[in-house]
Amino acid sequence: METAEKKTVRTIAVASGKGGVGKTNITANLAIGLSRLNKKVLVLDADLGLSNIDVILNLATKYNIRHLFSGEKRLKDLIVEGPQGIQVLPASSGIQELTALDEFQRLRLIEEFDSYDGHVDYLLIDTSSGISTNVAFFCMAAQEIIIITSAEPTAMTDAYALIKVLFTKYQEKYFKVLVNNVSNDREARDVYRRLATAAERFLSISLDYIGFVPHDSCVPKAVRQQRALIEAYPGCEATKSILRISEKMDNDNINHMKGTLQFFLGGLLKVRC
Ligand SMILES: Nc1ncnc2c1ncn2[C@@H]1O[C@H](COP(=O)(O)OP(=O)(O)OP(=O)(O)O)[C@@H](O)[C@H]1O
Ligand SMILES: [Mg+2]
Repeated sequence: METAEKKTVRTIAVASGKGGVGKTNITANLAIGLSRLNKKVLVLDADLGLSNIDVILNLATKYNIRHLFSGEKRLKDLIVEGPQGIQVLPASSGIQELTALDEFQRLRLIEEFDSYDGHVDYLLIDTSSGISTNVAFFCMAAQEIIIITSAEPTAMTDAYALIKVLFTKYQEKYFKVLVNNVSNDREARDVYRRLATAAERFLSISLDYIGFVPHDSCVPKAVRQQRALIEAYPGCEATKSILRISEKMDNDNINHMKGTLQFFLGGLLKVRC
């Protein structure tokens, strides 16, 4: 990763704590939203043992990250093209060993990203649910972390628990919050405020609200059709929200820059297995 171009890659991990709150759908569609802004986006499916992105986008994947770890394939051989020119690095499904990467596997990933010379503006990382070492590893590695929560108390509690672990154990201080599956902006801001108040009071860190995606029946419909929401339902409210958030993200200055892609690589090693 020596050229100046590669160092401008923005790496963003999407995490939640609780499962099923919308990480994969939002990551895939944010990627398409950014691609429409003429950005080159690579999505890393970091739900390594139970991959999903390839399923919701109906991608034909011949190889996946397992082939990278076995040494059979290189990063560039795994990448498949998704809707609107996004690129996807697929995970594998039903491979339990990958649910907690060991040091060798991390090093292999680092090596591969290090020697990858494709043009990428954004690397979006769709993590798994829970507070596993893999989730910590990818959050540490990324420059920015987006926490997704719904209005359900369990989702909010788990979002807070994840923030707490990433802060207390891994010194992460900056978190963006995206509220999914709510009725409107008011409800979303209320969810955000409650989460932000807890983070401020008990951890002394401030969170950053980046927007909401409403509850929208088009989301499960698109999932069932295995089509990207933005393409299948361009006029629906969830699509409009995701496009607004993509624009906002793209216009945002990264004021809490943890580093560059170089950091991504270095960061990968810091999480204890
Ligand atoms: N805004 C929304 N409106 C309606 N339904 C939604 C919305 N967002 C997500 N869903 C529903 O929630 C389901 C789970 O979403 P998704 O797979 O993106 O969650 P996830 O957080 O990635 O789950 P996992 O933790 O299992 O990886 C979707 O298949 C869809 O049916
Ligand atoms: Mg998912």
